[in-house]
Amino acid sequence: MVDDNRVINPQARPDDRLDQALRPHRLDEVIGQDQVRENLSILIAAARKREDPMDHVLFYGPPGLGKTTLAYVLATEMNVNIKITAGPAVERAGDLAAILTNLHAGDILFIDEIHRLGRVVEEVLYPAMEDFALDIIIGKGPSARSIRLKLPRFSVIGATTRLALVSAPLRARFGAVYRLDYYDMPAMRQIVHRAANLLGVEVDLAGVEEIARRARGTPRVSLRLLRRVRDFAQVRADGVISDQVATEALNLLNIDTLGLDEVDRRVMATIIQKYNGGPVGLSTIAASVSEEPDTIMDVVEPYLLQLGFLERTPQGRVATEIAYEHLGFPYNRPKEQPRLI
Ligand SMILES: Nc1ncnc2c1ncn2[C@@H]1O[C@H](COP(=O)(O)OP(=O)(O)OP(=O)(O)O)[C@@H](O)[C@H]1O
Ligand SMILES: [Mg+2]
Repeated sequence: MVDDNRVINPQARPDDRLDQALRPHRLDEVIGQDQVRENLSILIAAARKREDPMDHVLFYGPPGLGKTTLAYVLATEMNVNIKITAGPAVERAGDLAAILTNLHAGDILFIDEIHRLGRVVEEVLYPAMEDFALDIIIGKGPSARSIRLKLPRFSVIGATTRLALVSAPLRARFGAVYRLDYYDMPAMRQIVHRAANLLGVEVDLAGVEEIARRARGTPRVSLRLLRRVRDFAQVRADGVISDQVATEALNLLNIDTLGLDEVDRRVMATIIQKYNGGPVGLSTIAASVSEEPDTIMDVVEPYLLQLGFLERTPQGRVATEIAYEHLGFPYNRPKEQPRLI
């Protein structure tokens, strides 16, 4: 079954609420994602200059990379209120109508997991985003008529881990769509360093390095690892996170030097041993390791693809030579031969 307790699971958990205190508030405190940041600063400056609400913005990318953080940052930078909701929470069209009619001019409406909005609800959102209008049907049957209410000019910020599940008409209503990617090492080092400072944890450069390297390019994971390593340092060492302390703590958590945990290794080992390196379908892999296909797709696979351990082919997933190497299996697949005609 899905093991939500995986320390490297990038999805939010209750104990991550502490992270909120670590959220950057202003755009210039945001680390990494340089291109997105630059685009956002233009978006903000332009909206301010026009004295208009900001364009509707859609963020997509794997969990824990900062979509929600950026939504709050935009609200702070624009100096406006932000209302938070999520796709599954808005069940009926009336729920959305209630939210929309309570907005004030300039407000930001943040819709997390926007791919999970129902069709009927989405249809209320279209005119709201496009014309700042709410169409309400009054009465029933042949005497029913529709009236149009004017809404204040507001901005929607949508966030999703699954862009492919956002319907085309909804996507088309966002003026700006940004993809968040895994963070590179310099950014990860800075994030760990900043968090350690804010938490008052003593950590040396090599300790930062070790945590940053194993955090899968994901800020949320790095903060979680930092907390676990801090606990270890306080209980088993003198409270200071050196690289030795970090290494021992992370090894104890079964997180290897690339940030893979047992589930990742089990997935790779299954493909390599059971299916001779693939190609094998995602649902077959999921069944073999007793995980939900969704978990494999959202949490496990993106990072393995990013590492270059997996390749996606039309026939299924294929393990690459570097994956064999990292996991210590002999690479026994023939190299692709040029085909002779
Ligand atoms: N660029 C960044 N710089 C510093 N810290 C960051 C950055 N991005 C994210 N964080 C930290 O990582 C944590 C997780 O980020 P956030 O909650 O914004 O992710 P998310 O993309 O919304 O994830 P989900 O898809 O699960 O909703 C935040 O609490 C914040 O402390
Ligand atoms: Mg979020």
